[in-house]
Amino acid sequence: MVIRFDYDKSQAHAREMAACAEIVVTDSALHKESLDAHTALDQYYEHYFSVPLGKEFVQILQAFNSGPSLRILDVGAGRGETSLYLANHGHHVFPVEPSYDFCQIIEHMARRFDKCLTIYNTTAEHLDIPGEQFDLVIFNASLHHCDAPAKALRNMYDLLRPEGQLLVINEPMLPFFRTQDGYLKHLASAPEESGDYGEFGNLAWPTSAVCFGPSLGTLMLRVLGSAGA
Ligand SMILES: C[S@@+](CC[C@H](N)C(=O)[O-])C[C@H]1O[C@@H](n2cnc3c(N)ncnc32)[C@H](O)[C@@H]1O
Repeated sequence: MVIRFDYDKSQAHAREMAACAEIVVTDSALHKESLDAHTALDQYYEHYFSVPLGKEFVQILQAFNSGPSLRILDVGAGRGETSLYLANHGHHVFPVEPSYDFCQIIEHMARRFDKCLTIYNTTAEHLDIPGEQFDLVIFNASLHHCDAPAKALRNMYDLLRPEGQLLVINEPMLPFFRTQDGYLKHLASAPEESGDYGEFGNLAWPTSAVCFGPSLGTLMLRVLGSAGA
């Protein structure tokens, strides 16, 4: 099911949505015949997980696959490889994706393989649903696409259950996150420059929960709740 939200689009965002629509037209792997040629859901996303972006995702998300089924918001879900992977691993997944063309692909694949996904066709900044309902919110290579990343993070943070976790992966917007120390120093010395993240005084990272990819600048943030750590 795709739930559409109306919102005003900036010129940059409208251009990005037009580019997404163009990808759906030009990439034959996304055409209906190609999608329908898959006989198992993992065939749809296996290529994605063979490249660094996907490998990083799997490496981190494996930890979540061994536990109970989670309610997961996959923010900026693109063509849905990660959402469908998570659904295939038993989680209850809610992709957030502003490109309606991409949402339709996700919905097509979910229906075809009998996965029940609620897809929010909107941005992280504009998603307006009841708060405190997700165990995990993921930005995978998507935070830097947001017009207002601080608002996006704040909005998504408010949707987490107490003890929920926020995962920011494959994020080139965070070059100063090369090390945890680097981030903390940056935050202390120049909170305004850290900008979007400075307001998150209550974020903390148990060492074991911080994952840095060697080249991708991966960051995993663990949200410990409003009391902070
Ligand atoms: C680089 S793609 C990453 C897609 C997917 N997470 C993946 O790993 O393949 C970034 C996605 O973010 C979406 N996006 C753009 N602006 C957004 C916003 N404000 N909120 C949420 N997603 C957004 C784009 O439509 C695009 O699908």
